[in-house]
Amino acid sequence: MKTTAKAHTNIALIKYWGKRDESLILPMNNSLSLTLDGFYTETTVEFHDDWTEDVFYLNDEAVSGGERNRVVSFLDRIRKKAGKEGTYAEIHSVNHVPTAAGFASSASGFAALAAAAARALGLECSNQELSALTRQGSGSACRSVYGGFVEWEKGTRADGSDSYAVQVTPPDHWDIRVAAAVLSSDAKKVLSREGMKRTVDTSPFYPSWVESIPADLAAIKDGIMRKDFEKVGSIAEANCLRMHATTLAADPPFMYWQNTTLLIMEAVRALRADGVPAYFTIDAGPNVKVLYLPEYEEIVRQKLRSIPGVHDVIMSKAGQGVTCM
Ligand code: ADP
Ligand code: DP6
Ligand code: CO
Repeated sequence: MKTTAKAHTNIALIKYWGKRDESLILPMNNSLSLTLDGFYTETTVEFHDDWTEDVFYLNDEAVSGGERNRVVSFLDRIRKKAGKEGTYAEIHSVNHVPTAAGFASSASGFAALAAAAARALGLECSNQELSALTRQGSGSACRSVYGGFVEWEKGTRADGSDSYAVQVTPPDHWDIRVAAAVLSSDAKKVLSREGMKRTVDTSPFYPSWVESIPADLAAIKDGIMRKDFEKVGSIAEANCLRMHATTLAADPPFMYWQNTTLLIMEAVRALRADGVPAYFTIDAGPNVKVLYLPEYEEIVRQKLRSIPGVHDVIMSKAGQGVTCM
């Protein structure tokens, strides 16, 4: 009844932004990501018939309040599916990624938790079922079940059984890299969950966001298949800017960017003007991820490091899907 799992984060190139069902975590739009080898979570889950409540440690500290509740309610879903209600767990999770800072800790965190808990409870499930289950912990986490480029199909059923991720191409299809420029590892003020809800409820730009997705998705998948870096990068960058535009129009409005975020965006545009193919994307936080090809690794690293306010630059390759140890 004890299992450890490891899951990597992923960076969305076509963003998941907005839910049609908050309880089951069903998205308004399909999304597409690349799993990253540079950031991951390792989670050990142990169930015991004698225990009377779940205990959750994150980075060696006991967690209470909302973060613990989120884990407990997610375990409740897995216990129910496994027919093991009334058995509680001790969970030890270590994030090799900043928590709640826009580096997708919820993705690696819930993918590792789902895989470890399911295995510890003896729940036999396919990757597809594991992805649909993982989705209910954090939407973006359903994509971290797989390595490489991954698409989350929003599905149409009300029970969410057809809302899961599928692999588009495995990690070795194409050596595309991502540099994460770290300006702040502080927790964000508006969590992804809250930010997307406010946007869906109040932003007049939101319908245009949803309408823009199918064309972007078809084009980026074509770009991935053909390994057309300019096509993939430019679509990802435009999609990111559109997502962030919806937040500016929300009520009350909010913005994830900081001064340094804008400096990095400018630096990436300057790289392109100098003939270095590089494109940026930004999740719900101030930190920027830059897509580039391996031959430009040193140029990209130096450029990002030279920007005042950038504390660290972490390079990733395409990562693998979730594994149990
Ligand atoms: P991020 O950009 O890091 O994904 P989110 O706002 O989406 O930020 O989610 C952050 C939340 O995810 C945390 O406040 C916590 O509730 C949850 N989380 C992060 N890491 C883990 C983990 N290893 N195990 C369980 N839950 C986690
Ligand atoms: C901007 O998956 O963290 O990173 O489903 O509420 O847990 P919840 O939110 P989360 O949202 C991720 C938003 C994003 C875009 C993306 O990863 O697709
Ligand atoms: Co998240």
